[in-house]
Amino acid sequence: MEKICIIGAGNLGVAIARGVVRAGLLKADQVILTRRNPDKLAAMQQEGFVVTDNNKDAVQQSSMIILCIQPKQTAGVVAEIASGLHAHHHILVSTVTGVSTTEISVQLGDRPIPVVRAMPNTAIAIAQSMTCICAHQATTEQVNQVINLFEALGKTLVVEERLMRASTVLAASGIAFFMRFMRATTQGGIQLGFDAEDAMCIAAQTARGAAMLLQENHSHPELEIDRVTTPEGCTIEGLNEMEHQGLSSAIIKGLVASHDKINSIRK
Ligand SMILES: NC(=O)c1ccc[n+]([C@@H]2O[C@H](COP(=O)([O-])OP(=O)(O)OC[C@H]3O[C@@H](n4cnc5c(N)ncnc54)[C@H](OP(=O)(O)O)[C@@H]3O)[C@@H](O)[C@H]2O)c1
Repeated sequence: MEKICIIGAGNLGVAIARGVVRAGLLKADQVILTRRNPDKLAAMQQEGFVVTDNNKDAVQQSSMIILCIQPKQTAGVVAEIASGLHAHHHILVSTVTGVSTTEISVQLGDRPIPVVRAMPNTAIAIAQSMTCICAHQATTEQVNQVINLFEALGKTLVVEERLMRASTVLAASGIAFFMRFMRATTQGGIQLGFDAEDAMCIAAQTARGAAMLLQENHSHPELEIDRVTTPEGCTIEGLNEMEHQGLSSAIIKGLVASHDKINSIRK
């Protein structure tokens, strides 16, 4: 890839830009960032990124175009850049929540432009994203190009498009859900006598250790729970109390509510 452009360099767009440079995939001057108020990207410009408010120019100079705009802005931006996109030269990657590849293709006038949807999360800024990917009218080579970019920024999983909404809930919103769990753990730790900083340090490192036990040992949560729950011990006492209060049920209901909400996001 010679250059990529990120159309809509807000929270996610800036995180992707910094991530690809930190991972050594591209130099900052190979990443073009656009937004309507480019003055808000002055710090990025100082870091060497190319900053502009001209989406068409950015597309013309790039082989991969990553859309990081809000859902309601998508139709207008796609219409604006459509005539500058060419099937043999461009890959259009959309991170936009709730907008399908078919909708984007229709907005492109049903031309055979490869469209890839990617659903990362904000941990992309530290190369620890979970990014789910699905593609439309793209060759294996083109999909691999997108996978390679996001693999440098964490883990990727290619999914069927019908699972993209579920991917949004589990991976993108998932950051907020796990954060809330760790905040609650921190608050509990404070009640048990730790100061806030120490309680959060313990909560975050314990969460990281739990996740790595699953990833590195290819273990199962229930097996790891069995290992720490002594009969009549304090862990099973606490765990069962959390379940009596509806922990698993609350999490599953929250995920389903979040999934239902995506449908109405653009209304
Ligand atoms: N944040 C996440 O964790 C996350 C994760 C996965 C997917 N997503 C999806 O990614 C998309 C972006 O999310 P975000 O949190 O980064 O939103 P955001 O911070 O609001 O960024 C959107 C950016 O788009 C720019 N923009 C709006 N219209 C534009 C136009 N016509 N041309 C160029 N730029 C334009 C805005 O800047 P100006 O107003 O200056 O133009 C803004 O900086 C959303 O669809 C979201 O659902 C987000």
